[in-house]
Amino acid sequence: MATADLQRVIARVKDLPTLPRTVLRITELVNDPRAAAKDLSIIITDDQVLTARLLKLVNSSYYSFPRRVSTVTQATVLVGFDAIRNLLITTSVLDLFPARSAKVRREQELLWDHSLGCAIGAKTIGSFLGQEKLEELFVAGLLHDIGKLIEMMFLPEEFSHIAERVREQGGLIKAAEQEVLGCTHAEIGRLLAERWNLPVKLAEIIALHHRPVEAGPFALEAAVVHLADILARSLDLGCGGDRSIPPLDPAAWELLRLKASALDGIMASMLAEFDDIRSFLT
Ligand SMILES: [Fe+2]
Ligand SMILES: [Fe+2]
Repeated sequence: MATADLQRVIARVKDLPTLPRTVLRITELVNDPRAAAKDLSIIITDDQVLTARLLKLVNSSYYSFPRRVSTVTQATVLVGFDAIRNLLITTSVLDLFPARSAKVRREQELLWDHSLGCAIGAKTIGSFLGQEKLEELFVAGLLHDIGKLIEMMFLPEEFSHIAERVREQGGLIKAAEQEVLGCTHAEIGRLLAERWNLPVKLAEIIALHHRPVEAGPFALEAAVVHLADILARSLDLGCGGDRSIPPLDPAAWELLRLKASALDGIMASMLAEFDDIRSFLT
């Protein structure tokens, strides 16, 4: 990727969206080892929308707690700080992109469904692998194609050239992006993650979800998202901007050490969870 191209693209995206102040405060608090559940609940309860979302989320089948969780403090204790930060980032991201037209809105919805499919896939693959930080994988999956959303919103002209090229010539959207913009959604996504001060790990997974083994210490997580992206496409969950299914990177597959037979189970649970998780995010 030519840095000059990326810089040129970024210069055109003058006002990259920002995260809501509350979410930024929560992100800071989560990084503070002295913070207590009480501090976090005070910030969240101050914001009615976040409170409602959090309670809806902890009472959804994503967590399947046996009893109804009715207070923010209970929710904080039950799911943990990191999980709350990740999930609030997730739901806030959706608000940052007001659609300009019905056509763009439809494209955004399809991209969100694709991202959500990838998020659910990443969480499911993670649990098959015995990974602990499942929310982190979920968020990484949800944000992996955030660069495409930036293109839709801030580079509408270029994005319609990209879409046209994919429609006419087929192939993958990233090849069309490279041709039109000189960089891909993966690099644009990394830039946004950096602006938002998201953890380095998240930024690297977003940047390298098509080339996971290059992600160094985060290669395994990037490989999880890489596979989840392909599975979401195979299951036709939403649309990532083209109708092709990219090849699975053999080195990533090796890194994952999954049995091919596990894929059926993973895809079945992705389908089973999709509608329910979708309903609390939209
Ligand atoms: Fe992608
Ligand atoms: Fe994708």
